[in-house]
Amino acid sequence: MKKITPSLRTQHITYAIRDIIAISEQRKKAGGDLVYLNIGDPVLFGFSTPSHLVEACYRAMRENHTNYSASEGVPEAVEAVRQEALRDGIEPYDILITTGASEGIDFALSALVNRGENVLVPSPGYPLYNALLARLLGEARPYRLDEEKNWEPDIEHIERQIDDKTKGIVVINPNNPTGAIYSEKTLRAIIAVAKRHDLVILSDEIYNKLILNGQPHIPLASLDREVPVMTFNGLSKNYLAPGFRIGWAIASGLPELVGDYVEAMKKLARARLCASHPKQFAISVALNGDHSHILETVEKLRRRRDLTVERLNEIPGISCQRPNGAFYAFPRIEVDVNDEDFVKDLIRETGVVVVHGSGFGPLPASPHFRMVFLPEEKALNEAFDRIDAYMRRHFI
Ligand SMILES: Cc1ncc(COP(=O)(O)O)c(C=O)c1O
Repeated sequence: MKKITPSLRTQHITYAIRDIIAISEQRKKAGGDLVYLNIGDPVLFGFSTPSHLVEACYRAMRENHTNYSASEGVPEAVEAVRQEALRDGIEPYDILITTGASEGIDFALSALVNRGENVLVPSPGYPLYNALLARLLGEARPYRLDEEKNWEPDIEHIERQIDDKTKGIVVINPNNPTGAIYSEKTLRAIIAVAKRHDLVILSDEIYNKLILNGQPHIPLASLDREVPVMTFNGLSKNYLAPGFRIGWAIASGLPELVGDYVEAMKKLARARLCASHPKQFAISVALNGDHSHILETVEKLRRRRDLTVERLNEIPGISCQRPNGAFYAFPRIEVDVNDEDFVKDLIRETGVVVVHGSGFGPLPASPHFRMVFLPEEKALNEAFDRIDAYMRRHFI
């Protein structure tokens, strides 16, 4: 037999957040310890999935909801998401329950992009968009986030990046990896650009309840009834249940503009049958049930964020903007290094596992790394002590 050759569409797929594991494993095998700051999974750091979500899944299984569900999701879950959208000021045109927000993002891009077409993605931004666009043989075209303005999108750069092959703009708010939350002015400016160029906006709001500056998060789709927007959310982050793999996509905008597009997404949804049926029953209890875990989580994250910003800015050769949402910091390495080499060396030498900034897109050109501030203060302090000593050893 001949060797099986992988498809071209897999050739340019990378996912730095998990790719970095190989280096960590080498250190572990050699007997070294590790401080993991690389994966955005709150459950790995002692945050527990609220019991009422877990109970809802058990109940659904006991009640035999173990068959395939409707492809777009069980009516109870769809209705709960619709009510939540209305509370957020979004007029939903349609709703799909998906296997994590990831699957909704996959449907939204697959139903949109032909070979050679492009979608504007924030740089730095969550690398799933780049991986999916690579698979579609499309292009993830980066737009600049301005570090000096606490990582707000550069609207002029967005507009300059558009050409006749551009189909959409991705907005991640709160952002992964920067933790930035965007102002209403910025969101309105993005909507205006989308309207001028007939683009759909993919608004990823998966961290919208993890707000650390006390200000209300603004759902992009609530600002305009006409513009086509696909809003993504789910149980992974706000509800501390990433392993449930449950998310949703809310389509909004004028029906005559979004109707065909949503129908194409639903075709894809039908072809994969459904998201996990019993776990969909966690959606309504999550959205309508007890939210005390969110207050507790935000309280802990705020303290850990404060510690992170203070400690990072004290380390020579490192500076960091203040994240206002989610649980990521994106510090700048203010010495002349390749960020991937820096991170690999840091892991090998200190065991602190962070992800190189270029894994989140080519911009900015200066070196950065991403870390999660999910661990308890003791583990964070240990990591910062090691990074501090490393910087002094090599660069001062
Ligand atoms: C910005 C962003 N969008 C989507 C996802 C994936 O979400 P889900 O677990 O719902 O697939 C993540 C996960 O880290 C993320 O950071």
